[in-house]
Amino acid sequence: MTRPIIVRTIAEMRQHVRAWKASGERVALVPTMGALHEGHLSLIRLARSHADRVIASIFVNPKQFAPHEDFDAYPRGEAADVEKLASADCDLLFAPAGPEMYAPGFSTLISVSGVSEPLEGAARPQFFGGVATVVAKLFIQSQADVAVFGEKDYQQLQVVRRMARDLDIPIEIVGGPTARAEDGLALSSRNAYLSAEERAAATALPTAMRTAAAAVASGGRIDDAEAAAVAALTAAGFRQVDYVEVREAGDLSRLGPGPIDGAEGRILVAAWLGKTRLIDNMAIG
Ligand code: PAF
Repeated sequence: MTRPIIVRTIAEMRQHVRAWKASGERVALVPTMGALHEGHLSLIRLARSHADRVIASIFVNPKQFAPHEDFDAYPRGEAADVEKLASADCDLLFAPAGPEMYAPGFSTLISVSGVSEPLEGAARPQFFGGVATVVAKLFIQSQADVAVFGEKDYQQLQVVRRMARDLDIPIEIVGGPTARAEDGLALSSRNAYLSAEERAAATALPTAMRTAAAAVASGGRIDDAEAAAVAALTAAGFRQVDYVEVREAGDLSRLGPGPIDGAEGRILVAAWLGKTRLIDNMAIG
């Protein structure tokens, strides 16, 4: 068990990275907003398998929250996060304060068109601009060789890949499989918002998604599978379904309404249980 070195400034992080690289070590970065759970720790372990040194960042990024969203309420607890990072053998925690990330007068926003526009981009118009901006900054600040993101936020992973490619940032992007509870619910920091009753109902989401993915994989119509998943979620008590859509796995263009016909598909879902918005996705087939 290694306790991570904790640094708050870009200059300190770069000093460590420079020393590691000077001894020929490969460096991985796992960006997070804290409230760490087993899903994040699995990404730290995956990062370790791609590099000699692992940096985790914790920064609740104000630029990816709209004013009505949960920036203030977002769960925070650095001491508990540090213990978890230690258990996963993370070398360094970069935990900057707001002004280290966004100095007064900060005026740049990275906009990734296409892949960021549907789904989460349509439901949360400010979200991917904020994500692409903070992630690009973390890549440039850390000069990591590889960065690991969870497939749980599948569209985010595709947006980050596009952004790094378009901006020629020399970093390898690795996607880590979604960690799930025993009943199939994807682990998420926002699951902490669910009441006991909502948590019990939440298992309908992975079930509806898996059923729809299996129907499409076995040749069923995409529109029928999507409609059946919406009906199942509504029957289980979800108060609003933002989307259930089967999309092309790389650029997230729309597939259907008929059978998938050999395309590489991904089903993506976002739905509300009470005040909590849950998202999930899985490969078709
Ligand atoms: O997935 C997250 O936790 C955030 O969107 C990220 C990638 C750390 C950027 O703030």
